[in-house]
Amino acid sequence: MSAPDVAEKLTSLAKRRGFVFPSSEIYGGAGATWDYGPLGVELKNNVKRSWWRAMVQLREDVVGLDAAILMHPRVWEASGHVENFIDPLVECRNCRKRFRIDELPDGARLMDAWRSGTADLTSTPCPNCGEKKLADPRRFNLMFKTFVGPVEETAAVAWLRPETAQGIFVNFENVQQSTRRRLPFGIAQIGKSFRNEITPGNFIFRSREFEQMEIEFFVNPHDRLEGRPADEAWHDRWIADCQAWFTRYGLDPANVKLHEHLGDELAHYSKRTVDLLYRFPMGWNELMGIANRTDFDLKQHAKFSGKSLTWFDEERKEHVVPFVIEPSAGVDRALLAFLLDAYREEEVRGEKRVVLRFHPELAPIKIAVLPLLKKRPEIVAAGHDLRHRLTRRWLTLYDDTAAIGRLYRRQDEVGTPYCVTVDVKTVGDPEKGEAGDGKVTIRERDTMQQIRVPIAELEHVFGRLLDAGTPWSEVAAGYPRAEG
Ligand code: GAP
Repeated sequence: MSAPDVAEKLTSLAKRRGFVFPSSEIYGGAGATWDYGPLGVELKNNVKRSWWRAMVQLREDVVGLDAAILMHPRVWEASGHVENFIDPLVECRNCRKRFRIDELPDGARLMDAWRSGTADLTSTPCPNCGEKKLADPRRFNLMFKTFVGPVEETAAVAWLRPETAQGIFVNFENVQQSTRRRLPFGIAQIGKSFRNEITPGNFIFRSREFEQMEIEFFVNPHDRLEGRPADEAWHDRWIADCQAWFTRYGLDPANVKLHEHLGDELAHYSKRTVDLLYRFPMGWNELMGIANRTDFDLKQHAKFSGKSLTWFDEERKEHVVPFVIEPSAGVDRALLAFLLDAYREEEVRGEKRVVLRFHPELAPIKIAVLPLLKKRPEIVAAGHDLRHRLTRRWLTLYDDTAAIGRLYRRQDEVGTPYCVTVDVKTVGDPEKGEAGDGKVTIRERDTMQQIRVPIAELEHVFGRLLDAGTPWSEVAAGYPRAEG
């Protein structure tokens, strides 16, 4: 299957099955913003929860924060966003299409020329209509501007945050003092960010409203670790941890690689930046970045706020401005990568099946309870009862709106790792005086193997599979196989 094919099929599946809808669709869409449907919101929450658990709760050196989206306008002057969060916007005078300068033919060279004030576009054809009628580039700030209070005046200007990072920097002292942290330690935050992108696109890859999962990890620049400056060692550790998180939750390592920022690509405040790239259908592209931002941000905020943002090193008896290692990931981009990597088309007994092979922790629905015969009230009642019991611990769905084969395919297509089937043998047949065996069939999504398990043991079995992460093969070995 070609890459564009997968992208198209996935976008259509995402809409059809309620993962992602275009925002305000009944009004024709709202320009590169997206709404997450019933399954999408579960998947997104699971991505965020898994990241929070790995990066905050299971570590001793990171704590969490949830800062406001609207911040003091001086924050964005200090951070450099008012001055520098600029894209060079080029408009074609013929077809009126707009581009970022780096999207034009020979874009990298033109971008360099623009930075040095020498960009000449007179001989550059428009990528859309081919005419050589591109206007001179305009500076376009990507931040959304708004006003606080009822009067739209300069004094009331506020910006929708374009990154969550600054909420962390301005709270450095609050968090450090309230938690009595010593360096090194990190502050993590998940939340919405907004950028008025000139050319959003590729589904949820680049949109104007998105979520970020960011960590600012503060390190004493005078410390040494593994025989080198501590910030450099921590940078490498964070790169490895981030890469491991993505592959642990399902990305094929062959689809992930590192990209080192060199020369002009490196932001002026950064000592080193490494991107984690994913092989998206449109090519290798940024999944997340891990930057060594030095002491730039804390120094800037100290300068603009007049507050000293230092940490007292008891051993050396000196105040230091910590260096910052920043792992910064997009939730939507991570979700897109997990969706793409999970998507498979397989042939089963001569029929095509579409399956999302999500890691069970990310799967929106963990268990589906499916009755084999809808006409038998005891089967339906037992199914509802099971759903009720299991959903207290794992999101469980009951579905009896089609024949069993169809029901399995539906769950495969949304990545549900386990289906539980209640059948005649489970409940027996009172008319014939036959007692039920009190057992149900569990079917695993990827192998499609089925085992017969006593209802009384279901919680224990799913505890092993879904909480303890015990492999299916190990759990299945303890139970008789059921017919497929
Ligand atoms: N604080 C650093 C920072 O914001 P960035 O490289 O601009 O760095 C970090 O953004 C991550 O946020 C990106 O790697 C990407 O995953 C996500 N991201 C950035 N802009 C985005 C957009 N317009 N739509 C979706 N995700 C975006």
